[in-house]
Amino acid sequence: MEMIKRPRRIRGSESLRKMVRETRMDKASLIYPMFVQEGTGKEDEIPSMPGQFRYTLDRLPYELERVMRAGVERVMLFGIPGVKDEVASGAYAADGIVQRALEVGKKEFPQLYYITDVCLCEYTSHGHCGMLCGQEVENDSTLKLLAKTAVSHVQAGADMVAPSDMMDGRVLAIRKALDQNGYKEIPIMSYAVKYASAFYGPFREAADSAPAFGDRKSYQMDMHNSREGVKEALLDVEEGADIIMVKPALSYLDMITKVRDVTNVPVAAYSVSGEYAMVKAAARNGWIDEERVMCEMAVSTYRAGAQIYLTYYAKELAKCMDEGRIG
Ligand code: PBG
Repeated sequence: MEMIKRPRRIRGSESLRKMVRETRMDKASLIYPMFVQEGTGKEDEIPSMPGQFRYTLDRLPYELERVMRAGVERVMLFGIPGVKDEVASGAYAADGIVQRALEVGKKEFPQLYYITDVCLCEYTSHGHCGMLCGQEVENDSTLKLLAKTAVSHVQAGADMVAPSDMMDGRVLAIRKALDQNGYKEIPIMSYAVKYASAFYGPFREAADSAPAFGDRKSYQMDMHNSREGVKEALLDVEEGADIIMVKPALSYLDMITKVRDVTNVPVAAYSVSGEYAMVKAAARNGWIDEERVMCEMAVSTYRAGAQIYLTYYAKELAKCMDEGRIG
């Protein structure tokens, strides 16, 4: 049979396939999300996220060491405070859980890069990401507290802050507050394109942050919208965001590509708790090959255009990269 073009020709061996790969990944692009909690001597496994734990501060260094040994050098910290209140005091307290975790981390492993999630939902008694006025989440009064939280994280040692609250104008408010406090060089990674998603379910169990009433649809994005995501991304770039994040990853690959096309900042994608939980659950039933699915999800996120990948599988992915199974 006469055929000049044969796509299979470049798929004939592993060596050749590796040479012609279009998507290449690197451990330096991985960020590992971690949960810290009050108390001592505890590593509580999150029931819906097997393999992920809430660490007390005395246990945190052991996990940081494992993360570092895996070759992952960037972490994102989430805090679960001992007490929650109406005004999220724990979010910006100098001795808050994240602030103290940063002190521990920076002292024990200064070579790691520490990013903090800036939001109020883990710290409010009602579980919403901002201040309430009746049943409404009030935008502008929330900005001050977010800015205060970001500054307190940086004072405690954060290398980068990542606001995830989806209030309007928060990037600018945080940028101004950081600058006024002398932190002009601290970058902001904005959760700019963040959808109101059922995929956050396991996280809310982990952080005990499910809203006490209603949902987050008045501030997080409607899953039907794509052009609106472009608007969010462009606004945050204008407000000074250094990196733009799309979240969740798997169901929003189109948005990763779009944001990459319309901006000139690095694009991050967050493979969220529900994505991890689905893979774990199916794998535990013997229904899928966990490692291969994990790799496929990661590769597709990078292929869509992400340069940075936040994932609960960071350590395992790093191993796959080291061993040449992906990358
Ligand atoms: C805080 C925040 C959430 C996540 C990251 N930051 C939860 C939410 O918005 O409800 C979700 C992360 C995950 O599901 O892994 N606002």
